[in-house]
Amino acid sequence: MALISTLRSVARFSGPGGRGRLSRAANVDDLRAIAKGRLPRGIFDYIDGGAEDETTLAGNSAAFNDWSFVPRIMRDVSEVDTSTELLGQRRAAPILLSPTGFTRIADSDGEIAVARAAARAGLPFCLSTLGTRSIEEVAAAGAGDKWFQVYVWRDRDLVADMLTRARAAGYSTIALTVDTAVLGRRERDVRRGFTLPPKLGLGTVIDGLTRPAWTWDFLRGGEITFANVAGSVGGGTAVTLSDFISSQFDPSLSWDDIAWFREHWSGPIVVKGIQSVADARLAVDHGAEGIMLSNHGGRQLDHSPAPIHLVAPVREAVGDRTTIICDGGIRRGSDIVKAIALGADACGIGRAYLYGLGAGGESGVDTAIGMLVSEMQRTMALAGVRNIGEITCDLVAPRGRIPR
Ligand SMILES: Cc1cc2nc3c(=O)[nH]c(=O)nc-3n(C[C@H](O)[C@H](O)[C@H](O)COP(=O)(O)O)c2cc1C
Repeated sequence: MALISTLRSVARFSGPGGRGRLSRAANVDDLRAIAKGRLPRGIFDYIDGGAEDETTLAGNSAAFNDWSFVPRIMRDVSEVDTSTELLGQRRAAPILLSPTGFTRIADSDGEIAVARAAARAGLPFCLSTLGTRSIEEVAAAGAGDKWFQVYVWRDRDLVADMLTRARAAGYSTIALTVDTAVLGRRERDVRRGFTLPPKLGLGTVIDGLTRPAWTWDFLRGGEITFANVAGSVGGGTAVTLSDFISSQFDPSLSWDDIAWFREHWSGPIVVKGIQSVADARLAVDHGAEGIMLSNHGGRQLDHSPAPIHLVAPVREAVGDRTTIICDGGIRRGSDIVKAIALGADACGIGRAYLYGLGAGGESGVDTAIGMLVSEMQRTMALAGVRNIGEITCDLVAPRGRIPR
């Protein structure tokens, strides 16, 4: 008896459910490993993979290691505050939950779970055009700040209609994705013959048998459709993503189109997918209130620059004329602190929350966000900064170079 109570006092046992699993994860990479074990392989690879040789995908995260902190000590860091202002609104941390299409394939609550978790954490959530929950369903999920990501379809009436719906549903901001003139070749999806929504072919069924929790959730979750466009463009049928995109997306999109969006949207416009200083300047010249330095998480052009490498030169080129969001490769709170030090206003996260969603549904998203925010707080305390305003360029230096 005494032995059991001693054991109880030193060990906390966790049950087999989601919370037990999640409580054993120490960081976002651990959530990725759990998601890998829970999701069918094709689905995990759809989320995890990138274009061609995945050089950009790997480089996005690795590039954060090119910067080290220049920590300062003996500063009173008993209170550390991660809150910040982004596009006129106060946020709990400089983090945006970036848009990801087909989120319901990771968990049946999909975008609703992600939007709720973002709202709880005081962060904005951006719904994708290719969301699997509609503009209105996500708006009804909670009071948090919502952005809508726009892909430009050939059918401009359909785009205008989505913008009207987003405005009516209270979305504050649009993110105009400009890096998808054609679809990047994601070779993991090619090899697996992956379709969206997923076809319940023999391979998926066999894979699903070894992932019973996901399969049960998938089967009871109802049909997965492109909820924002279902009915208009054959949203309910299973297609390969590349066929769908080449039939619907408008590759003639150009800078002149920003004026069209300005006519149809009165709130802030954020251009997502800027990959050069020259285009950052053009976006600002065309009046973009924000830009997302992003290569679509390495899913489009392989060998494009890591967003973190663009932050300082873009800030230098555009000054304070626009809001800069660094999007791609963020797996640690320290990555966010580095991006802010180099000149970003905030960071976008994609896979970090999708791994959480795949690992444990909505509480997995809470866990992923919580990890990033607490890592930010710890990094700030250890580096000697108390708030976002104190994170300035002298907090980082190129790795191996010690400033004098
Ligand atoms: C599974 C998945 C789906 C995505 N779908 C979209 C999308 O529909 N629209 C879009 O603009 N970006 C999309 N993205 C890109 C993200 O918005 C974001 O730019 C990217 O995930 C950031 O990189 P990270 O995953 O390393 O954080 C997607 C990314 C992933 C991983």
